[in-house]
Amino acid sequence: MKKSFGIIGAGNIGQTVARHLIKAGYPVILSNSKGPESLNELVKSFGLGVNAGSVEDAAKADIVLLSLPWSEVSSLTRVIDWNNKIVIDATNHFMTYAPDFQVADLKGKSSSEVVASLLPGGRIVKAFNTLYFKILAKDPHEAGGNRVLFISGDDNSSKSEVSEVIRTLGFGVIDLGDLANGSKLQQAKGSVATLNLIQL
Ligand SMILES: NC(=O)c1ccc[n+]([C@@H]2O[C@H](COP(=O)([O-])OP(=O)(O)OC[C@H]3O[C@@H](n4cnc5c(N)ncnc54)[C@H](OP(=O)(O)O)[C@@H]3O)[C@@H](O)[C@H]2O)c1
Repeated sequence: MKKSFGIIGAGNIGQTVARHLIKAGYPVILSNSKGPESLNELVKSFGLGVNAGSVEDAAKADIVLLSLPWSEVSSLTRVIDWNNKIVIDATNHFMTYAPDFQVADLKGKSSSEVVASLLPGGRIVKAFNTLYFKILAKDPHEAGGNRVLFISGDDNSSKSEVSEVIRTLGFGVIDLGDLANGSKLQQAKGSVATLNLIQL
């Protein structure tokens, strides 16, 4: 049986990743801050394989994807026990968007290190954050190769599990190392942010 996914944040990135997961046969629970009823129409449009749930429901899935605004990540600390949970961090630490795109002051940490400190015990893997959602939405098979998703994290077993899922979706994977270093390359304004690579 395929791993279940809980998606926290049902906007551009949450819906885009959900579409890839559903296509590959992973069960998905989508959540937002307004509650499952607000997502009923959306989940109906996805068809089978996706349900709406609360943030707590989504957090009970085998693998959790964070696709909510940076300013909201701290809201997840109080409600959920994150111990040992694989958490994919797709957030970027933007405080403002176009035209100035200001980022939060992380005091020298990577953004996923900050996420890890907010979700104690969570096995954080940074992924799905580098591509604009309209690029991420495209078929990952392109030009005879596979569109690349970068990952980073401190826990090798969760990185392996997430890599396997990403490959099952049809993407290539490049592992950039740990959260202190790799995640800095991936995060907003990092060297590989927005890089759309095809692995041949
Ligand atoms: N857009 C992109 O191309 C892109 C690319 C890579 C990474 N990212 C990152 O991915 C994250 C999401 O971006 P997005 O463009 O998908 O944003 P979005 O379209 O605005 O969606 C954000 C989602 O998060 C939900 N949300 C807000 N506060 C929440 C909370 N406290 N608990 C649970 N859900 C909450 C929102 O619903 P409610 O307000 O109804 O709760 C909404 O469903 C951001 O960190 C962004 O930087 C975005």
